[in-house]
Amino acid sequence: MSKLFSPLQIKGLDLKNRIGMSPMCMYSAGDDGISTDWHFVHYGSRAVGGVGLIIQEATAVEKRGRITGNDLGLWDDSQITPLKKTVDFVHSVGCKMGVQLAHAGRKCEVKGEHIVGPSPIHWSNEYPTPEELTKDEIKNIVKAFGSAASRAVKVGYDTLEIHAAHGYLIHEFLSPLSNKRTDEYGGSRENRVRFLREVLEEVKGCIPQSMPIFMRVSATDFVEGGLDIDETVSIVNLVKDLVDVVDCSSGGLLSPRIDLYPGYQIGYAEAVKKSTGLLTAAVGLITSPELAEEIIGNGRADIVLLGRALLRQPYWPLYAAHELKANVAFPEQYERGKYL
Ligand SMILES: Cc1cc2nc3c(=O)[nH]c(=O)nc-3n(C[C@H](O)[C@H](O)[C@H](O)COP(=O)(O)O)c2cc1C
Repeated sequence: MSKLFSPLQIKGLDLKNRIGMSPMCMYSAGDDGISTDWHFVHYGSRAVGGVGLIIQEATAVEKRGRITGNDLGLWDDSQITPLKKTVDFVHSVGCKMGVQLAHAGRKCEVKGEHIVGPSPIHWSNEYPTPEELTKDEIKNIVKAFGSAASRAVKVGYDTLEIHAAHGYLIHEFLSPLSNKRTDEYGGSRENRVRFLREVLEEVKGCIPQSMPIFMRVSATDFVEGGLDIDETVSIVNLVKDLVDVVDCSSGGLLSPRIDLYPGYQIGYAEAVKKSTGLLTAAVGLITSPELAEEIIGNGRADIVLLGRALLRQPYWPLYAAHELKANVAFPEQYERGKYL
């Protein structure tokens, strides 16, 4: 019996299997942040392909929180209805869907936007120096996360993921390499975590109790003086009352050279799971059904998230079920395409 194809209940979220689609920016919205036919087809195909959960790409909570001018947004009510069309379709084929709420901070590339961060330190020479956020501005961004979460509930998502990874705003507060503040948002670990905690508290207050919260972290900055897995475990422990699943990624704060190999981030999901007792999602070069099955079967993580493998093969779960001899129904319309 395949463990990868076993169900999982997280609060009110019931997943038919452990395969999730990792959030991936499609840069296919207009400047208004409204979703397009591309998003409908892109997410709809992966739902038909059998993933249990889709986590929609980084979706900005305010305009200057976008990475590019073509990111999706949830900063305005006009963005709700077009997203709902996709979520309703995804639900109609038995798949669940969440949205990754994000703020790019100093990594915003949109020309003409006012770039902000915890401290006036740029990401690279090609990026402008961000303006240091005042405490009032921090409170406003916390509120923007809450408003976006309320809109996400109206869209009909089953879960939310807070993007605290990849060098974007929340991660910029967490890492001592990008946060040099001397007020209560910088310095000690508790202070660096304060912004994340406030975001999580605000978001939690805007969604039903039954809706679980995922949090994506960069478990390591791969740079001396930055976050490492021990620090990440300590950070997660400071917010574990507010989080249900920790999605363990890495990097993005700076751009050191790193070694990539199959499953290179699984160890982080394993460590966070063991040390915090929270559910975890593993991500990063998981491409074979055997590796995915191994991760879940050996209890190294509770969910596997696939990114590029699903760009190549939207129906990867149907193929994986065949490889693992799991009895999974093909969509009725595709019955004649079933593996023999
Ligand atoms: C086209 C593309 C866009 C991405 N956009 C996001 C994003 O919006 N949010 C995020 O947290 N990670 C993003 N990522 C990272 C993926 O979610 C995933 O963590 C990474 O690709 C490693 O998994 P993989 O080896 O299965 O692709 C993106 C990756 C790709 C390839």
